[in-house]
Amino acid sequence: STALAQGASRFAFTPIAAQTDFTVHVPDGYEWKTVASWGDPLFSDAPAFDPVTGTTVEGQARAFGENTDGMELFSIDGREVIAVNHEYANLDINLPQNDEGAPVSADDVRKIQDAQGVAVFEVTEGENGWEIVIDSPYNRRITHNTPMRIAGPAAGHDLLKTEADPTGTEALGTFNNCGAGRTPWGTYLTCEENFNGYFGSTEPAFERPEGFARYGIELESGYDYEKFDPRFDISKTPNEPNRAGYVVEIDPADASSTPVKRTALGRFKHENAEVTLAADNRVVVYLGDDERGEFLYRYVSNGTYEEGGDTSTLLDDGQLYVAKFHEDGTGEWLALTPEATGMDRAMIHIHTRQAASAVGATTMDRPEWVAVNPLKAEAYCALTNNKNRAVKPNAGGDETPATGPNPRAENNYGQIVRWRPAGEDHAADGFDWDLYVMAGNPEVHDDAYAGSGNVTPGNMFNSPDGMKFDSQGMLWIQTDGDDSNEDDFAGMGNNQMLCGDPETGEIARFMTGPNGAEVTGATFSTDRKTMFVGIQHPMNFPDADALPRSSIIAIRRTDGAVIG
Ligand code: FEO
Ligand code: CA
Ligand code: CA
Ligand code: CA
Repeated sequence: STALAQGASRFAFTPIAAQTDFTVHVPDGYEWKTVASWGDPLFSDAPAFDPVTGTTVEGQARAFGENTDGMELFSIDGREVIAVNHEYANLDINLPQNDEGAPVSADDVRKIQDAQGVAVFEVTEGENGWEIVIDSPYNRRITHNTPMRIAGPAAGHDLLKTEADPTGTEALGTFNNCGAGRTPWGTYLTCEENFNGYFGSTEPAFERPEGFARYGIELESGYDYEKFDPRFDISKTPNEPNRAGYVVEIDPADASSTPVKRTALGRFKHENAEVTLAADNRVVVYLGDDERGEFLYRYVSNGTYEEGGDTSTLLDDGQLYVAKFHEDGTGEWLALTPEATGMDRAMIHIHTRQAASAVGATTMDRPEWVAVNPLKAEAYCALTNNKNRAVKPNAGGDETPATGPNPRAENNYGQIVRWRPAGEDHAADGFDWDLYVMAGNPEVHDDAYAGSGNVTPGNMFNSPDGMKFDSQGMLWIQTDGDDSNEDDFAGMGNNQMLCGDPETGEIARFMTGPNGAEVTGATFSTDRKTMFVGIQHPMNFPDADALPRSSIIAIRRTDGAVIG
């Protein structure tokens, strides 16, 4: 456990109490307002959001999407441009005219496909606070049908070829865009997480190809796409799922640019992509695979980053590693090479999970976001929870013992693991690790489930998920957990955002979200006076009399001072 501070805290706010209502709370001296909500037009040719019917088939592709998640703000020619993920759809909300939202037509499917993906849009701060700049040349929607290029070791492999794309290098769409990242050269990284859920089979006897089970690709989809769009029917287009599960690079400065699927970063259920530089300026990307019993990864480029230099292959040409944690507080990055895995280079980047199993990586309690401290050589990963260690997570998955940074057998609360690379170099093969926090409930439990010493009745939370460092080296922690406020979770209230001090271990509650929602995604305005935060899958927000709308909110200090 981490020593608590003796001196003054570095928090610039008075922590707030847990809440159970349907709105957002911030500390005294701070204010919040919504900036963008599902269905808000990005272009003047989209209809205004309708509180009862939402948006139209034509309008959805020209409007802000559903379920905001990871995001980054870019300063481009003095203008503020946000790129944000729209992770998944809420069928009952997005197709309100249908019974339980089940799609009944190709138009319904198209509308849902267009509600997901990514939005890029300019924002500006006026008298009414931050607002979307409608029709800005930067505005863009990327959906489940946007043309993309496939690059890196898996590009052109037979398993990525389809009738529509015999080259295996030109895909349509990006899927289940969860966490995010940004490169030093000003591009946005969007991460494909639960892509498996979009694929199904209209042929009930279809035998799934090898490797589908490990990725959870089943005969039944969650969205019924396969009934109206044969691209998502694995009995007709069996290689299509192999073209998803990647990190996608997007240039937010050029709305006509083609996004690129960077297969060198591996294929799994990507949470986010946290980019930093090694001591010699090679590019290092930390990557979590959010599933019980899956792994934590690292990519190191072969080339080095130079400002203004050629960056086009830095995310194609490099080595992928997977983490092994030892009980003694040390760990190592195991290279996923053909020699170590028995797989060829392309297959390592198509069946990455199987490659990581082959080298004996450490199974983890659902790795969510990774965040790198900008002030010192250390990184953090949120291990959100593991509610069912006894059941093997996926066919072909490994046993998931309670060991190392995953010490609790039944883990409803989650923890945050931290590692410090050898020689303060993120490209080093070795590291030391500890747990920054084990979430828990010290009012309900007096054993390991009470949490680590920096968890108190005043800052309790469960299921850490989103994480982002600010420029002061403070760690913002967002939760996606049980907000019942009962039993094991009594006193924790709604999902929330806390601020952690890496030096002292102190954690303070900064914000609470509406009941039913998850708090996910955080980025700052260029002047650092505004923090943009995502509210995902609310039940009754922002307007209790309208359909619920996932939203980005802007949080500022009322005195106009820097927030992070
Ligand atoms: Fe989409 Fe693992 O969160
Ligand atoms: Ca998440
Ligand atoms: Ca989560
Ligand atoms: Ca989510």
